[in-house]
Amino acid sequence: MSQTKQVYASFRSIGAYVPEKILTNADLEKMVDTTDEWIVKRTGIKERHIAEKDEVTSDMGAKAADLAIKRSGIAKEDIDLVLCATVTPDYFNMPSTACIISNKLGINNVQAFDISAACSGFVYLLSIAKAFIESGMKKNVLVIGAEKFSSIVDYTDRSTCILFGDGAGAAIISATESKEEAFIDLHASADGAYADFLVTPAPGAVHPASQQVIDEGLNFVQMKGNETFKLAVKTLTKDVKEILQKNNIHSEDIPHFIPHQANYRIIKAVGDALKMRKDQVVLTVGKYGNTSAASIPMAINDIWESGRLQHGDLMLLDTFGGGLTWASALLPFAGKANIK
Ligand code: UT7
Repeated sequence: MSQTKQVYASFRSIGAYVPEKILTNADLEKMVDTTDEWIVKRTGIKERHIAEKDEVTSDMGAKAADLAIKRSGIAKEDIDLVLCATVTPDYFNMPSTACIISNKLGINNVQAFDISAACSGFVYLLSIAKAFIESGMKKNVLVIGAEKFSSIVDYTDRSTCILFGDGAGAAIISATESKEEAFIDLHASADGAYADFLVTPAPGAVHPASQQVIDEGLNFVQMKGNETFKLAVKTLTKDVKEILQKNNIHSEDIPHFIPHQANYRIIKAVGDALKMRKDQVVLTVGKYGNTSAASIPMAINDIWESGRLQHGDLMLLDTFGGGLTWASALLPFAGKANIK
């Protein structure tokens, strides 16, 4: 009797894209009542990248995906699932941004869809890719986190406009028979009781497009910043401690802790609670701000491009966002290192 071999999901490659235009704290000082000092002290953010008017989420996602495909060594014809995580899709209802990206890349006639899990979107996608691959349904999954957050930010609201930036990151997740290359563990969760902590009220079924939506600015992101901050630190710390404990891995043995890049103070609090050394913690929030679903793959891309991410290196991902949603993942990098 022939036995089917167990297959696992593996993280094959990474790519990212950031728009050229930079919005600095000095620029924001001219737009709202804020200071570079306040922004750096409270968030660690110095600048963020902003897409041009005619550059949309799918453009950025396609550029990041193109790089991830090239770096994976896998032919685009072998990709059998395209997934995009975004809360700033090209179109709020349909078609999905994943469909548009697939078409831009020339990947046609494969399953493609978006998910909405805000900043946790990329790690949520990893869990979906893992399930599709390990059930034998798909072999090579293109996962993309892409956001044009500037399209939902009110640049007269100092409490949010200083935080967010645009960008995209993508990865190829492939089937492998090697246990060494496999995702180790993944945890994703949500609690809708905190839905009003981070919300874009319109357009949607609750507030369809109307003059009132525009007059009241309901199309812009709203955040209960301080409440979100406190819950983020608590949840992220607990989540990461649990995944490490469950897998009997000590925090000092993680070469790359890659948290969601929302606020330096959140990252520092979680890193300190885990007794992480500075060199273990990946930090990109200073130059990109919070890019929501794109933040984790953009951060992975940063350490890959700088040559820090080696084949087999363990990555610990940890994220928190609107929903509220949160997720963590432990996995080795199964792609080729960037040897210069
Ligand atoms: O990615 C998804 C998850 N998102 C997050 O995790 C974000 C979580 N939240 C945060 O990062 C922080 O809460 C913020 C950076 C948004 C705000 O920092 P905070 O230390 O929580 O400040 P706060 O909201 O408690 O505000 C403190 C003061 C207020 O003034 P008063 O009431 O004390 O007079 C604000 O009006 O800071 C004021 N403030 C500002 N001042 C200068 C708020 N925004 C600004 C600003 N510049 N941009």
